Amino acid sequence: MQLKDIKKIEFPRFFDYRGNLSFIEGENHIPFKIKRVYWIYDVPGGEFRGSHAFKKNHELIIALSGSFDIIINDGKNEQKASLNRSYYGIYIPNMIWRKIENFSTNSLALILASTEYDENDYVREFDNFKNLCNEY
Ligand code: TYD
Repeated sequence: MQLKDIKKIEFPRFFDYRGNLSFIEGENHIPFKIKRVYWIYDVPGGEFRGSHAFKKNHELIIALSGSFDIIINDGKNEQKASLNRSYYGIYIPNMIWRKIENFSTNSLALILASTEYDENDYVREFDNFKNLCNEY
């Protein structure tokens, strides 16, 4: 996988004086069936999450509230995506290293995943990730 495979995806937005509404349908707005949803919250200042890749799992990351940065690396190049609105997300395919940092106070990261949780799917050593990149 390469950085060009990462996509910013904007969701439908219904503007309403009562408050706005957005939604996501798996396989329609995002390129996978949603098998799992998890979220990261109450992150203390200066902490980061992630810092790993997945062999098979694809994810979509949304800043439902507040803001944070995602550092994405394909084994050769690195890029930073700043998320700060709830109506778009970043699609990250398998075999892309990600680290989520710079969380604002009360930020909420929602993650939609294409697989159920499986610790064996994680690549947690960056050197190992770089070696595995050649195989995928
Ligand atoms: P992990 O993805 O390792 O978070 P980080 O990379 O930010 O440290 O998740 C932390 C722990 O939470 C993991 O060791 C097991 C548990 N966990 C689940 O049980 N199910 C899940 O879907 C996720 C994402 C994590």
